Amino acid sequence: MTSYFALSTPQSAPHPPLRGHIDCDALVIGGGICGILTAHLLRERGLDVVLLEAGRLSGGQTRGTTAKVTVQHGAFAAKLLRTAGRERAQAYVAANLRAVDALEALALRSGADCSFERVPAFVYTLTEPGALEQEAEACALLGLHVESTRRLPAPILPAAALCMEAQAQMNPLPLLRALAGPLRAFEHSRVISMDGPCARTAQGSVRAKAIAVCTNYPVFTLPGAYFLRLYQQRAYVLALKGVQPVGGILYGIGPGAYSLRSAQDAVFLGGESHRCGDARAASGCYDRLRGAAKRLFPDAQEATRWSAQDCMTPDGIPYVGRYSMRMPGVHIATGFGKWGMSNAMAAAQLLADAITERENPLAWAFSPQRLPGPSACVALAGQAGHACAGLGASLLPPPLRTTESLAPGEGAIVRDGLRKLAAYRDEQGALHAISPYCAHMRCLLRFNASERSWDCPCHGSRFSVDGELLCGPAQHGQPAADRD
Ligand code: FES
Repeated sequence: MTSYFALSTPQSAPHPPLRGHIDCDALVIGGGICGILTAHLLRERGLDVVLLEAGRLSGGQTRGTTAKVTVQHGAFAAKLLRTAGRERAQAYVAANLRAVDALEALALRSGADCSFERVPAFVYTLTEPGALEQEAEACALLGLHVESTRRLPAPILPAAALCMEAQAQMNPLPLLRALAGPLRAFEHSRVISMDGPCARTAQGSVRAKAIAVCTNYPVFTLPGAYFLRLYQQRAYVLALKGVQPVGGILYGIGPGAYSLRSAQDAVFLGGESHRCGDARAASGCYDRLRGAAKRLFPDAQEATRWSAQDCMTPDGIPYVGRYSMRMPGVHIATGFGKWGMSNAMAAAQLLADAITERENPLAWAFSPQRLPGPSACVALAGQAGHACAGLGASLLPPPLRTTESLAPGEGAIVRDGLRKLAAYRDEQGALHAISPYCAHMRCLLRFNASERSWDCPCHGSRFSVDGELLCGPAQHGQPAADRD
């Protein structure tokens, strides 16, 4: 399904695919919010910039954002102090505060109709008031002012809530469309290989003095080994019409707490977040969201629904800086968690400074080469465990189930003689069967019943029931079952 912003914002005029060779100062790979902002800032500084996008500009995860522009990243402060330490957490806060202001200035300057407005941000809980007491103390340590409250601008009675004033919300798509207009951008131009400072697509190549990889999940498996240091999380959203607007942006923690914001004539209700590839958690996500919508807004009508996927780092701080010490001149920005607005702007500023060799006092905190602290090591071990389990599952013998046992609308890994199939039977009874081994590193896929997709539990690639690539790190679709 399509997001509310994608439905309500006209698409930009298409950019051509890259054909032939170009030499330039800077190449940005990835035309989502981070890539477009980075290319825009570099162009403003006088660089000759090329932007390559595998699909359409703003066509990936950026389309699915709910665009909460805030430094209050849920109950983030206590966790960040634990995982990253005080100094790094302070740098993260400073970069995001600066990014919120920069997005506001850019929105104003661009004249784009992106509905940027300052609103209060709330983090609330129905069940865990102690967690928010700790969060308030952590915010104070980081120099952030939050007010404790039991009143929310929504029909929710929390056990505890913290309010941070003067945060913001927007629709980023008109802004990105305006910024992309003057860029030398190429769509349907997936980078398939890199040879030093030269990136190649199917029909062309770009040689640049500096390259910024802003592809949500990094496009190259090695060097950098980001697949060992990132995992992907999914979340689901309903846009509801016919309800009272919500007076701020709300983020719920703990059981039964959802996130909310208003946008034009709708309210977004989001949540049910889970690690990509967790088939049990994915099942029934939209039904549970609809149940919550019914309780909170009995008269609401569902306008649209959609899902989004976020890259998470073990310490909660994005990786922004050198892609790898073995790739001089190549930079990366990834791992924005669920906070892709302010983090994307912060990353674009850091990348623009790194590429134009301007000193940025916050850059050290985001270095992709940083060593993980003790609690980040625990998260990394968990990530390795998930990957091993996914790879191990692909080595197990086929299950007893066969395609005949699949009911309409059902998908499962089934037996076909001695081999496995990822098989889905559609509502009309037709069978769709693809290879069950992920095109990235051959983990066994799992069926996501809410999205009718095949999701990988190892690093979060996703495929349609016919094998079309929906999300990386895989760089191509799944082969049909008979070509495995
Ligand atoms: Fe890496 Fe599937 S094996 S995403």
